[in-house]
Amino acid sequence: MRALLSASARRLARAQVFFGHGTDNAADEAAALVWHALRLPYPATAESYVRRVGVRERRAVQALIARRIEERIPAAYLIGRARFAGLVFQVDPRVLIPRSPLAELIERGFAPWIDPERVRRVLDVGTGSGCIAIACARALPRARIDALDVSAQALEVAHINVRRHRLGERVRLLKSDHFGALGKRSYDIIVSNPPYVGARELGALPEEYRHEPRVALASGRGGLESIRIILRDAARHLRPRGILVVETGNTEVAVRRAFARLPFTWLHFERGGGGVFLLTAEQLNAG
Ligand SMILES: C[S@@+](CC[C@H](N)C(=O)[O-])C[C@H]1O[C@@H](n2cnc3c(N)ncnc32)[C@H](O)[C@@H]1O
Repeated sequence: MRALLSASARRLARAQVFFGHGTDNAADEAAALVWHALRLPYPATAESYVRRVGVRERRAVQALIARRIEERIPAAYLIGRARFAGLVFQVDPRVLIPRSPLAELIERGFAPWIDPERVRRVLDVGTGSGCIAIACARALPRARIDALDVSAQALEVAHINVRRHRLGERVRLLKSDHFGALGKRSYDIIVSNPPYVGARELGALPEEYRHEPRVALASGRGGLESIRIILRDAARHLRPRGILVVETGNTEVAVRRAFARLPFTWLHFERGGGGVFLLTAEQLNAG
């Protein structure tokens, strides 16, 4: 088994596949693919590492690694699952693969920026697989979550995940272009990982990204289209002392420049990643 794991990792590294859709190195990626191909229980047991691998099993692993390399399909799509905030989500090419640094903040119930105890209503803009909404529901057991997306296909996957996590009572999925379908509803927390990739950057992304929905990545020429709408309309849907938290990735520089008048707090994450800002309802209303 160990030989198979290291041979698979070496193949992935040699082929220079792109890591960043759930793993960040060849060894972890190889382990995920081997475990899936051999249908081994996850998390791994000590016995799995010393078991003998039959010829047929070895071929199944090699075929999966070959697809990863030749078609550049992210491992999460080949496996059909991704982990986010300690939870497992079903994923396929209808949705972005969960990987937002927001997981860390959600696991803390958004503390210290808001008292988790007083959060009753949360909105997730651009829910995709539903990962952020579902993780919020788990971290904030007294809250109800509205999760919207413009993509009907993404919402199909989000529905599957809401059902799997048995959160149908507390997570409501809505088809909406940004805040369009919300009426006058207001929230203690609005959280979003919106599309934020500009046209030029989109063309330069590694091939793996082409398997993800374009609507989940692209946001106009400069990548700011969705963020601009969120900044324009979020205040109308925030309760007093509510917070807006938005991931902007490496569009952060452009956001700072385009909205220089807004007093953003840029958050730091122990587990890595960045480009996430926070604004209070009061800051947005004053801006
Ligand atoms: C970067 S993905 C984030 C998905 C998920 N929240 C996550 O973190 O993995 C952005 C999501 O926003 C959705 N989206 C794009 N344009 C939108 C719009 N105009 N209104 C609502 N959702 C939109 C996409 O369909 C996609 O699911």
